Amino acid sequence: MHYNLNNNPVIVVGGAGYIGAHVCKTIAKHGGRPIVFDNFSAGHKHAIKWGPHVEVDLRDRKATQKAFETHSDVKTVIHLASSIEVGIGEKYPSEFYDNNVSGALNLLMAMKYTGADRLIFSSTCATYGETQNMPLLETEVQNPFSVYGKTKLAIEHMIQSYHKAYGMKYVTFRYFNASGADASGEIGEEHDPETHLIPNALKAAAGLGPKMKLFGADYDTPDGTCIRDYIHVTDIALAHIDAIRTLDEGATTHAEVNIGTGEGYSVLEILTMIQKVTGLPVPYDISPRREGDLTQLYADATNAKKVLGFSPQHSDLENIIKTAWNFHRKQWE
Ligand code: UFG
Repeated sequence: MHYNLNNNPVIVVGGAGYIGAHVCKTIAKHGGRPIVFDNFSAGHKHAIKWGPHVEVDLRDRKATQKAFETHSDVKTVIHLASSIEVGIGEKYPSEFYDNNVSGALNLLMAMKYTGADRLIFSSTCATYGETQNMPLLETEVQNPFSVYGKTKLAIEHMIQSYHKAYGMKYVTFRYFNASGADASGEIGEEHDPETHLIPNALKAAAGLGPKMKLFGADYDTPDGTCIRDYIHVTDIALAHIDAIRTLDEGATTHAEVNIGTGEGYSVLEILTMIQKVTGLPVPYDISPRREGDLTQLYADATNAKKVLGFSPQHSDLENIIKTAWNFHRKQWE
């Protein structure tokens, strides 16, 4: 369904990042006006193509309030900005709590100040913690073991409190593994350093770096490697349009929703698909387990369909790898 955003503005915090750029493009495609707020600690100015931007760091409460004052007509905010590298969070928790939790609090305060009363927040499957209960339902106990997951859960709680006390309307997305790239190849995943599986494996396949390190082949899974739920970044972006539509319709004023496909793939299955798509084997060495990795994580995706009418359209694994390959190949040429 093509929902029209009627030229309405949407503030996209972290709009210069990997998911943010895809969200902005999708908002523009649906007739909305994305306004990027970003501190460019991880985002890229060249990824802002669909509207204006404000350079602002959420940790600066006054600057955040000022940024909101200059866009006081905006009612809807999408919050994607955060520190995401799980390992770094374990080493430097203060940085994570400051950037993620203090930043989100400043954002909520600024939103309340200007009357922006609708928030779509990117949380994570990492808030659930280790469990055998797969696929993961939204009602699963949230017991995150990583600092990263703890910061995201703290923000989920803050948003619920704002809903209860001030009537903030929200949708909290618990993303599974964002992957792939826009079909045009104009935007994609550009982390530095890159820690994610698919870009690292593609780079190794292209012969542009050392062999890929496969972190652990002794997990309790059929082939011994970790299982994840890979969802195409374009589908994630489209879920935001469904969230805005649902909020516009007043169909929900608050919800926590998994954004995944419901299917899990092991690391070795990803490498096999990469060879199929690119024709190149991925050279790898089996390395020790990476700290913080869970054995398996995949979603029960039925709630997203029920609450938002959302189901993934682009997340066939072959398409994920094809679009990622298309993007990275251009970058590496
Ligand atoms: N992996 C490797 N080698 C690599 C990179 C990853 O073997 O070079 C393995 C990991 O050990 C894991 C799987 O590939 O088993 C997926 O790893 P990613 O780093 O691609 O993704 P994660 O599942 O660790 O991370 C995802 C999001 C993060 C988020 C995290 C929360 O991409 O941003 O979920 O659990 F923080």
